[in-house]
Amino acid sequence: MRIALSTGGGDAPGLNAVIRAAVLSARTRGWDVLGIKRGFAGLMGDDEIVPLTADSVKGIAGLGGTILRTTNRGSPFAYPVQQPDGSWKEIDRSDELIENARNLGIDTIISIGGDGSLKIASQLAAKGMRIISVPKTIDNDVAGTVTTFGFDTAVNTAMEAIDKLHTTAESHDRVMVLEVMGREAGFIALHAGVAGTADVILIPEIDWDIGKVCEKILSREDDGRRFSIVVVAEGAKPKGGTESIIGESLPGQERRLGGIAERLGFEIQKRTGKETRSMVLGHLQRGGAPTGYDRLLATRFGAAAVQAVADKRWGHMVALQSPHLVCIPIDEVLKEVKKVDPSHDVVMAARMTGISFGD
Ligand code: F6P
Repeated sequence: MRIALSTGGGDAPGLNAVIRAAVLSARTRGWDVLGIKRGFAGLMGDDEIVPLTADSVKGIAGLGGTILRTTNRGSPFAYPVQQPDGSWKEIDRSDELIENARNLGIDTIISIGGDGSLKIASQLAAKGMRIISVPKTIDNDVAGTVTTFGFDTAVNTAMEAIDKLHTTAESHDRVMVLEVMGREAGFIALHAGVAGTADVILIPEIDWDIGKVCEKILSREDDGRRFSIVVVAEGAKPKGGTESIIGESLPGQERRLGGIAERLGFEIQKRTGKETRSMVLGHLQRGGAPTGYDRLLATRFGAAAVQAVADKRWGHMVALQSPHLVCIPIDEVLKEVKKVDPSHDVVMAARMTGISFGD
């Protein structure tokens, strides 16, 4: 048996722990393991294919990033290729990828990635490739799994940022607006905001009314609390408004969300007269060492993926359905994007402890 591992999409703390667990679990069974570099680029001749042994994964469980590197713009089904006139064209290179995998004697691919990689995995499976997926994203927006590795680390990073903003906000009697990642899902904002005891949390699942946001800030003022912390998810928007998009994306890349904290901070200062500062936490949320929770989950996912190969669960994704790890069809997972349920107990706990969602 020869398997190959690939990491695709934005990186997430815990990727290396998955790689390590999968390599060691496969080697224990006597299987060969290859690493496909930079998403699927290595299988299309645009990067390397490397052997992965117990030595290659020594000491990497606690390292952020991915030793295989990654990309969020290389779907083999829509591969961006620059034309002689400088323009870009997306071409389908999936047949070439499958042919190369066959020539290398690869029996199965374990693809570690978020929704983009899951879609590629589903398309490859439809073409007969044996593939097992491992869900990855700091956004926690993959359906079918209670959580993804990387999310806990991102929440902790954002919570620490909120803790730090508290002290400076209080010293200056300011409003601090913190923008966190998450795309169309508000999990990072919600969990970090509640854990960090923010005053206002704005998420894509609940559009806000700027009047209500300012009301909350001013009511704190009336109570003698002259500062406020607002956590806003990058994909959140005001009622009747639109998401904030940063400039142009590169060919083959998704639209980039960002800039909402500055717009919101400006509006808050204008309406309340309170000095307001904003910051974007950005890619700090994706970097650094994974938390213990993420290392453990990543290790469980890596081992479960190898078990799924042994059980011939092609076209399936490993998932956490607490307290068990399960395997579910990738096509089922792709039917929906997981989002915050506004009636979830975390939202309720937030409201009951005085946090405003601006609604
Ligand atoms: O999906 C993970 C994520 O970090 C999102 O939260 C964010 O919008 C996006 O990736 C940023 O991606 P990039 O690496 O293209 O900046």
